[in-house]
This record gives sequence, C-alpha cells and structure tokens, in this order.
Amino acid sequence: MALAIALVLIVVLAVGFHFASPWWTTPIASNWVRMDDTLTITIVITGVLFVAINLFVVAALLRYRHRNGQPNQRAAYEPHNKRLEWWLIGITTVGVAALLAPGLFVYADYVRPPPNALQMEVLGQQWQWRFRFAGPAGKLGTTDVRYMSNDNPFGLNPADPNGRDNYLIETPELHLPINRPIQVLARSRDVLHDFYVPPFRARMNMVPGMITTFWFTPTKAGRYDILCAQLCGIGHANMRGVVVVEDEASFARWLAQQTTFEQRQKAKVQAAPAAAGGSAQALAEQGQTLAQAKGCVACHSVDGSPRVGPTWKGLYGKTETMADGSTAHVDEAYLRAFIRDPKARVVKGFAPIMPTFDLSEQELAALVAYIKAQGGDAAATAAKP
Ligand code: CUA
Repeated sequence: MALAIALVLIVVLAVGFHFASPWWTTPIASNWVRMDDTLTITIVITGVLFVAINLFVVAALLRYRHRNGQPNQRAAYEPHNKRLEWWLIGITTVGVAALLAPGLFVYADYVRPPPNALQMEVLGQQWQWRFRFAGPAGKLGTTDVRYMSNDNPFGLNPADPNGRDNYLIETPELHLPINRPIQVLARSRDVLHDFYVPPFRARMNMVPGMITTFWFTPTKAGRYDILCAQLCGIGHANMRGVVVVEDEASFARWLAQQTTFEQRQKAKVQAAPAAAGGSAQALAEQGQTLAQAKGCVACHSVDGSPRVGPTWKGLYGKTETMADGSTAHVDEAYLRAFIRDPKARVVKGFAPIMPTFDLSEQELAALVAYIKAQGGDAAATAAKP
C-alpha cells in the first residue's frame, strides 16, 4: 500500500513540476521552432507512458495485494500470450517511430542550407573558439591540416587566392547579422568539440578530420552564450564564447574591422622589428589583451588569487619549485619555454594540464612582457591591469 501511494505521489509531483517550473521555457532566438516541436512530441509520448505505466503498477498492486484469510490465492503461470505480445510490439513500434520520425525530417532540413546563406566557419581547439568569414570576394579559401602552424592556426592554403581576403576572428566573440540564414562549417583541430548556442536550438559536433555543417537564421538581436557541448578535457567548462546578433550594417562594420589572412601573414613578417621597437608598456598591453582573448585568465589570476594555474602576480623573478624537486628561476627564457611546451616541466602543486597555445613569436613576446609586468619588484614597471 505504501508503495502504491509513493508511486502516485511520484507521478503527481513529476507532472506538476513540469507545468509549475520554467525549465523548458528558454526563449527561442532562431528559426528552429521545429526543434522545440520535436522535443514537445518526445515529452508528450514519454510523459504519457510514464504516467500510464506507473498507474498500471499501482492498479496491479491494489488489485492483487495479499489478503489474509483468503485461501488458495496463487499466481497463475502463463508462459506465453501471443495476442498480448503482438499488441505490445505494435504499440512500441508506433511509439518509437513517432519519437524518431519528426527528428529525421527536421534534421534533413537542418543540414541543407538555403542558397543565399552566409557561410561562417567555426574552428574548435582546446579550449578556444575561432571563426572565419569570406572576404569581399565572397569565397572561403581551402584549408588543410598540413598548413596548420602557430602562425596559421586555420590551416589556410597560402597558395589559394580565395583565402587571402578571408576574415579571421581569433577572439571568442562572434557577430552575426539578424534575419539572414547562416551556414556553419565546423572543424576541430584536436578533439571532439560541439558548437552550441542554446537560444538558437542549434548545435553540431566538431569532429577532427572532417567538416560538419548546419544552418540557422538568428531572429532576435542580442548577446548569447556559445558553449562547447562535448566534454573535451579539463578546460571544457571554460570553452565559452559569445555571439552578438545585430543589424546587417553593424555586422558589416564589425566584419570590416577584422584581420584578413593576408594582413595576418604580413604582420608575421614585420613582427620581429615591431616587437623590438615597440615600448615595453605597449607590448605588455598587447599581452593583456591576448591573455583575455586566449583564455589564459581562466586559469591564471593577476591579483594573487589561487586558480587552476599559478598566479602571475609576483611570478616573474621568483624561484619556482618543480614537481621533480628541481628549481627554476622565472625569467623570460623560462616563460617562453614553458608557454611553448607546457608539459615539459611541471610546477610543484599543479597538474600538467596547460594546453599548447598557438602564438606567433610576436604574441609570445607580448604575453611574456605582460606576465613580466605582473612580476616581482624591479620588473613591475609597466601595464598594471
Ligand atoms: Cu570543447 Cu568541450
């Protein structure tokens, strides 16, 4: 009897929670209302079954409960019931088909973009987002893993003229025009990631070695979180970005400010003298921007507070003890070597979890200058945050 009451309570509370709580009401910001519809179908079918099965168990418990003083109450043994089996097979088949079929129709449209869609590439890497748009010529250049390097993280083919004017966005902030279909081309540089913007009801796995695709039309201006929806390592929770949906003119203005592949290649050639000529303060300020863009600040504080990695406050100039008991003086050479190959040496008290970042020589110099500026007494001359 207690079990029957418990089951009825579970049914009433579960159904009541669904209607009373707002857990399913994230406002939608794209064209994919059909994603919500398929979810509703799933919830209705599984919900009806959940209630029916529990109430059936309750009814059985009440009807066939043990009664004292009633002799000859024995269960009847029935090894086979063909009619009942056919009914169960039929109902289950219809139910499973009803669960799966709508999703197949939606998915077929989801991966087939309309002809006027704007192409946008998203590149995932532990634990950063990068984005690429075609330039004024309107074409995305070809890529190949062979071309991937610190100076060319997208792996763009330098010989392909289509790639030269491509806009490369290496900060985790993406802008998109409102009411225009966007075709997303997703790639990963290392492990499985997943580009996911919940209000768009749109997501796609990013698989190393292939390009996955889907499309959506943003229908509401605003800022939305980009999440990585595949567990991709210790920094997975920090692999976040933001997408800004705005009018076409604002988007065009933002896009025109981005660096093209050609500009990036040129900057690389000029980087060495510029780094030498620029003031230490300018370099450190650039490093500060970089530390935010690359996500360093997720693990390293500059105010001494403890995080996953060592704080940068007072790091420069101090003597660090390594896990193997050896010591190292933190100077420019140490920082450069450590950032280039984070797993070669392990600092005592910290896990060897820092990923390798793609930094050009110039970016590395800027980052080291910034860390230096947070460091010990004499070094602390420039760029306090
Ligand atoms: Cu990338 Cu989780």
